[in-house]
Amino acid sequence: MQDRAPRPEELDPVERSGVDELRALQRDRLRHSLRYAYDHVPHYRRAFDAVGAHPDDVRDPADLAGVPFTTKADLRDNYPFDMFAVPRERIARLHASSGTTGRPTVVGYTRADLDTWAVLMARSIRAAGGRRGDRVHVAYGYGLFTGGLGAHYGAEELGCTVIPVSGGMTERQVMLIRDLAPEVIMVTPSYMLAIVDEMERQGVDPRATSLRVGVFGAEPWTEDMRRELEQRLDMHAVDIYGLSEVMGPGVAVECVETKDGLHLWEDHFYPEIIDPVTGAVLPDGERGELVLTSLTREAMPVIRYRTRDLTRLLPGTARPMRRIEKITGRTDDMMIVRGVNVFPTQIEELILRTPALSPHFQCVLERQGRLDTLTVPVERRPDATVEEAERAAATLAEQVKNTIGVSVTVWVVEPDGVERSLGKMRRIVDRREGR
Ligand code: DLL
Repeated sequence: MQDRAPRPEELDPVERSGVDELRALQRDRLRHSLRYAYDHVPHYRRAFDAVGAHPDDVRDPADLAGVPFTTKADLRDNYPFDMFAVPRERIARLHASSGTTGRPTVVGYTRADLDTWAVLMARSIRAAGGRRGDRVHVAYGYGLFTGGLGAHYGAEELGCTVIPVSGGMTERQVMLIRDLAPEVIMVTPSYMLAIVDEMERQGVDPRATSLRVGVFGAEPWTEDMRRELEQRLDMHAVDIYGLSEVMGPGVAVECVETKDGLHLWEDHFYPEIIDPVTGAVLPDGERGELVLTSLTREAMPVIRYRTRDLTRLLPGTARPMRRIEKITGRTDDMMIVRGVNVFPTQIEELILRTPALSPHFQCVLERQGRLDTLTVPVERRPDATVEEAERAAATLAEQVKNTIGVSVTVWVVEPDGVERSLGKMRRIVDRREGR
């Protein structure tokens, strides 16, 4: 794989600053952001007042523990525009999060917010191994989803040639990669798999394309998936994280030179990890739910936003900012099967270690009588025989039982038998009654 690490002089000054300098900047910005949210968003004033908290009480990030959390329900209750801190006329763009049920949540950006986002995305793409002058194929969806436009303006800001393909029409994705020769692709890892399969179907050698770097995010994926993608495509597979409520993609990203977790851009966001049940703040290094406070947003500041994403905070390595460990899942992705907690990523890891099975799979939850059952439809790899895949499925079921502790039925389906995602993959299909 090509060396793609940026040179130190290419980085933003804050990426080279010392930790103390970063902490001082954060402290100032945090105080300002709390005061700004309290003064401009009635919801925050009410929430602070209800618990007797005041922005001036927070002198240091450690004091944040006394400030109320913000949840998705708060954003829904204030749908569509009541979380905004500026008059509607100053909102330059709206995005919305998909929200599987009911109302979506709407997010707004001022011109300055869009500029900050583009700068942070440019920084993220560069950290992931993209360079000025690269051709960047964007296969994240364009529209209300923040993936497409977020990647687009970031790549432009970095000085790349942007190819705004959006998701879908997989045959054409392959043709455009062949003909326009991008060095960088930005797409969900599950849709990248669908594109690689299509390359192979068309007789295109995935290792021989122009692609050097994949910037993959918007859904959880494992180290085993990284190995699979890097091996099949002969390119760097780098993780990018973000969420619309807090900005969009570009909140945190891995550095291509280390690939050791995602540096979170702490000059614009303050991270905490809490116990998802009690809400207590946990020390760095302990696993829990990520909570984010925006430090510079104008249109829609978020204070202690509960992301529901599970990870832990680690010290900076390639950058002074702290890292988050690759996200294992969301609190609401956790399946509880007969009392055992299971995440789809744990199943993904085991499938990827089983050569006859492909990583196209789902987790189907059903209820038989009073018992929950988990069935995993998983595709046979095209180069494995049906018998090999059946044997592998039996082994996989045993491994799941031995390592995770739940009984599953593994059900081998033919290649292409599992629904393909064009964006985020729907890993869990919940067919239990009343869901
Ligand atoms: O998924 C923003 C995004 C677009 C990120 C493109 C990266 C690339 P939402 O649709 O609001 O925004 O969904 C946010 O997706 O809370 C996580 O649960 C999940 N997620 C995003 N990135 C990752 C990742 C975009 N790298 C929700 N690993 C988040 C695991 C991720 N989960």
